[in-house]
Amino acid sequence: MPGDIQTVRVSLAERSYDIEIGSHNLPALPDFLRQRTQSEHALIITDTTVDELYADAAGDALVAEGWEAGVLAIDPGETSKSTDTADDLWNALLDEGADRQTIVIAIGGGVVGDLAGFVAATYARGLEFFQVPTTLLAQVDSSVGGKVGVNLPGAKNMVGAFWQPRGVLIDVAVLQSLPDREYRAGLAEVIKYGMILDADFFAYLEANIDAVNAKDPAALTHIVHRCCRLKADVVEQDERELTGLRAVLNYGHTFGHAFEAIGNYEALLHGEAIAAGMRCAIRLAHRLGRIDESLVERQDALLDALHLTTKPPEADGQEIIRLMYRDKKVAAGRLRFILPSRLGNVELVDNIREEDVLASLEC
Ligand SMILES: NC(=O)c1ccc[n+]([C@@H]2O[C@H](COP(=O)([O-])OP(=O)(O)OC[C@H]3O[C@@H](n4cnc5c(N)ncnc54)[C@H](O)[C@@H]3O)[C@@H](O)[C@H]2O)c1
Ligand SMILES: [Zn+2]
Repeated sequence: MPGDIQTVRVSLAERSYDIEIGSHNLPALPDFLRQRTQSEHALIITDTTVDELYADAAGDALVAEGWEAGVLAIDPGETSKSTDTADDLWNALLDEGADRQTIVIAIGGGVVGDLAGFVAATYARGLEFFQVPTTLLAQVDSSVGGKVGVNLPGAKNMVGAFWQPRGVLIDVAVLQSLPDREYRAGLAEVIKYGMILDADFFAYLEANIDAVNAKDPAALTHIVHRCCRLKADVVEQDERELTGLRAVLNYGHTFGHAFEAIGNYEALLHGEAIAAGMRCAIRLAHRLGRIDESLVERQDALLDALHLTTKPPEADGQEIIRLMYRDKKVAAGRLRFILPSRLGNVELVDNIREEDVLASLEC
């Protein structure tokens, strides 16, 4: 049975849209779309795993409601987020007779969302786009904010656009089939929101460990709702990442991106790298005298309780520093980090010394 539906309104002038969050609400997709588009032609982009689980049935449901609908399934995994796959999809859209009246629906994780959004943004100079994120990471992060794109061989997310969806429908029940590792990786971003923006939400997570570990639907609906609201608040104030406000979302990410790169983007999932990155970032904040030891312990305890035990990879510290300078978030050759000043609040701190960064890798 569908549970309560929560809605997050993302207010971006004429690009405003709703994120609807519930449990077992995926069957409401045809109604959700009907309220938001005049289109009669939908192309679903998904990956083969999610196709079998959910997207194929969603396509059938649309056809049953009178839509002309097709499903295009890519191979699962980050390597599909490429210009080659985008090219395949542009041509598949052409073969399917897509025109300016066609809508694109992404059903899948962040790979599918970023890629399908990019294809929607570029085909025929832009098609209406809807998202049905099916990983926790996609539900709390990648489906909010309108960043879409693909990777170049040597540079992640290097080609893309800002292309806001017309609506996002989130069914937390689909997380039951998500592999445990992927679920936990998404929880790293969830903890991040509490650390950077919302002390009460952090305390909610601490008080609901068992429900979170058991994927309780009511807890998940609350969590996804809160994270989407927090990210939407940031995006509304800095839609195109111009004011620097959106940078708060990068807490743990300067370390984390380096850890992902050390592992060739294979050893660690993004969220696992971010969990380790947050452990280092909070130690850096403590080392610089910005926070008490007790906050380090509190964050460690929550990460541990949600089984996010990844530690920084064994690697030469200088190699990690070198990768950090390469990170596009590093400005003008200076090391800068998003660091907590208290629970629920972070600041951008500039001109960090390498020796402090190196010392913070011990955790
Ligand atoms: N646009 C943004 O703002 C933004 C933000 C963060 C991350 N991202 C991007 O998101 C991508 C990572 O996304 P991800 O972590 O969702 O990975 P993903 O899309 O690769 O999905 C992970 C795996 O889970 C499977 N899967 C998806 N939903 C499932 C379900 N309900 N049940 C069972 N299996 C399921 C997929 O087939 C895949 O194998 C990266 O490319 C990253 O750059 C984008
Ligand atoms: Zn992230």
